[in-house]
Amino acid sequence: MFNHTSMADIMQTTRLLFRSCLLSLLAMAVAPVWAAGQAMTPPMGWSTWYGVRCNYDAGVLHTMADRLRDSGLAKLGYNYLNVDDCWATGRDADGRLVADPKRFPGGMSAVAEQVHARGLKFGIYSSAGTTGCQRDLQQSGQRLPIGSRGYERLDALHFAAMGADLLKLDWCGHYPTQDSRSSFETMRDALAATGRPIMLSICEWGTGKPWLWGKGVGQMWRIAMDTINCWSCTTDWGGIGIVQTFDRLAEVAKYGGPGGWNDPDNLMVGNGVLSLDEERAQMSVYAMAAAPLIIAADLRTIRPESLAILMQREVIGINQDPLGKPGFRVRSDDGDELWVRTLHDGRLAVLMFNRSASARKLRVHWSELALPSTTLIGGKEIWSGELIKPVADGLTRMVQPHGVALFLLTVPQDSKTVRPPI
Ligand code: GLA
Repeated sequence: MFNHTSMADIMQTTRLLFRSCLLSLLAMAVAPVWAAGQAMTPPMGWSTWYGVRCNYDAGVLHTMADRLRDSGLAKLGYNYLNVDDCWATGRDADGRLVADPKRFPGGMSAVAEQVHARGLKFGIYSSAGTTGCQRDLQQSGQRLPIGSRGYERLDALHFAAMGADLLKLDWCGHYPTQDSRSSFETMRDALAATGRPIMLSICEWGTGKPWLWGKGVGQMWRIAMDTINCWSCTTDWGGIGIVQTFDRLAEVAKYGGPGGWNDPDNLMVGNGVLSLDEERAQMSVYAMAAAPLIIAADLRTIRPESLAILMQREVIGINQDPLGKPGFRVRSDDGDELWVRTLHDGRLAVLMFNRSASARKLRVHWSELALPSTTLIGGKEIWSGELIKPVADGLTRMVQPHGVALFLLTVPQDSKTVRPPI
């Protein structure tokens, strides 16, 4: 009956079931408490989704966990290893999701154990509908049966028993009339009742405006349909390119903050399509907008230059700034964009982004940062390492097509810091 499940899993589930009975009466009252103190800065990690898609097994995941640890990514904060779609083949006689026995002979708890042994956290995937989104290309062509609708309590206990620290809950297989907010709240309450702190990553593609209700339900929420690995594009099913995700981020940036973040989908840095300038642009906008940094590249084959972009400490520092106040887009004018973010120590992160296809001279005037033009401001351009002596008026730089200049600027203490016009 439990042939694909370890004995440890079963005992742990039984223990958790008992604990869950005691906790369930309290669940409604304490639901938001389980998440307290989690995701005070945007979550960081690696996901199977995009780079390896469904082509992974326990061995591949162990290798990725090794790469996260040995490359230094984990030390920089990329500490979640998230298993996305394709891991389960169905449910057993007791209704529990069964990991593909060929690819995961020890079940997912064995994978989670290995991930934890490397000092990382383990993320798992399901859907708030009745299926995942990937189709079973080898067999029926139907979507894989990884959906928690009606199984929320059981699945939450199972995920807790396997040692999950994060659940990404997708939206495939939902009923046409199904309400997304209450569906995700049901899983939030089921996770809370397990007593294990498991972050909830809401993936309903922005259809129900989760930026308005996501805080207190999950720790991150997708703001759009999937990001496609192209600079600028749209698909008939709603997939969008990199610059289109920037526009979505600009619209909703202000709703993110400690405990709940706008998720524009995984980073495409290192996935072999974007130029290095475009990869630096994606990383920079994600830093300015305080987006979760979830790597989607195959860490076995990623080029060193892309890895270096993902590992740029000061850019990560902006993303993870403890104030947790997302930046905003000051202007977007014929391919010339300016973003600004206030940091906890009063410094400003300022991003010039050349969205156009030719090199351009871009400028920021201090008045655009709500500062007197006489203010003397200096600092650093991060990607080049250029140090900037304090100057009045503003800065001008040549910026490559689809490229950025990202400044960390020190504003004299007697000047007022920027006031977002949003
Ligand atoms: C949906 C999600 C993606 C990914 C795939 C997996 O498209 O939006 O992020 O999880 O499903 O099938």
